[in-house]
Amino acid sequence: MPEIYYCEGKAKFYVGKAFYNAQSKVVRDLGILAANIYRQNNAQLRVLDAMSGCGVRSLRYWLESGADWIWVNEGNPDLNSILQQNLQEAIAQDCCQITHQDAHRLFFDCYSRRDYYDLVDVDCFGSAAPYLSTMLWATKINGLMYLTSTDGRTATGHSPQHSLQAYGAYARSHPAAQEQALRLLIGSVQQQAATKGLGVKPIFSFFTGKTYRVMLRLVKNIQLTENNYGFIGYCHHCGNYQTVSWRKLAKVTCVHDDRSLTISGAMWLGELHNLSMLQKMQSLAKLWNWQKIADLIEIMLNEINFPPYFYTLGEIGRRGKLDIPKRSQLIQALQDNGYRASVTHINAQAIKTEADLHTCITLTRKLDCLSKLGKS
Ligand SMILES: C[S@@+](CC[C@H](N)C(=O)[O-])C[C@H]1O[C@@H](n2cnc3c(N)ncnc32)[C@H](O)[C@@H]1O
Ligand SMILES: [Zn+2]
Repeated sequence: MPEIYYCEGKAKFYVGKAFYNAQSKVVRDLGILAANIYRQNNAQLRVLDAMSGCGVRSLRYWLESGADWIWVNEGNPDLNSILQQNLQEAIAQDCCQITHQDAHRLFFDCYSRRDYYDLVDVDCFGSAAPYLSTMLWATKINGLMYLTSTDGRTATGHSPQHSLQAYGAYARSHPAAQEQALRLLIGSVQQQAATKGLGVKPIFSFFTGKTYRVMLRLVKNIQLTENNYGFIGYCHHCGNYQTVSWRKLAKVTCVHDDRSLTISGAMWLGELHNLSMLQKMQSLAKLWNWQKIADLIEIMLNEINFPPYFYTLGEIGRRGKLDIPKRSQLIQALQDNGYRASVTHINAQAIKTEADLHTCITLTRKLDCLSKLGKS
């Protein structure tokens, strides 16, 4: 047996040769909270952990979310003994099975037996694109899907050709490209669901600083419309963004200077998170004394109702030829001037606001003058 013993949440487990990143605990914490709320609302939680690694997620869904049945699948059969060891309590209670199939086969197997899951967890390496359609086949209507994408390069516009292949969308590079990566992922699942007459609703979307995670609910009505699935235009000349609808594609230019825009998409333009689910998750996080997670959720709650992009403080400083403004001061100044503004979890050096970049620069300049006057 492997010697090193790990603890995370209520789980104690061996890792052996499995992939396990302790730094991704926050990602699993969010999943545990959402799964727990789901079980409270639906009185059951059957989990399909399609790419389990050492089984840490399965174990935590079992111990902390109250899952009543877990299918633990891991493509690599060499991890069988680790999984047996880690999940033995659930296995002993007849609440768990371990398999070593390719995830696609697993999803179609579920579909062919009409065995649909409350939570399908797809924690893959690299691009999630191959699984965006097949995971839908194993998910119960109103069930949850938790997705990982580590292919940030493609979705942030550094390889538009690959993004076309992965998402059927052309991703360009710009300062808010990490938000775009989350939106491309959601948009692609939304579009795949629509081909089956279904829809998805985002529960939460999370950029860890390196990887992209989205928790989605599968719903029985198509959600995709030309209003929530479209394009983002970035003006390299003035630094402003605007959303661009399909019908306006032919004649769109920057509303501020009439210059041509760099267009990215199509992608999800709707909300990144669900208000009521996040509120419930936050209450549970507080109850469990998970203060850091509750604080993260607070930021997510505040960023819900904003345009689908952000402005970085660096861009505001560079374009205004000013010192980089303090984030809290700029947000306060925007709010004092009647604009909604918020921090974003995606970039600690950025703000979300309905004001344009010019307004941000003007207010930063005023703050700059006030602080110089204060010093003199
Ligand atoms: C990122 S690791 C999983 C980590 C684990 N979920 C956690 O939270 O620690 C991805 C795992 O998926 C497995 N895997 C990769 N492709 C797969 C596929 N197509 N079907 C099933 N398993 C796969 C890999 O062997 C690897 O153990
Ligand atoms: Zn412009």
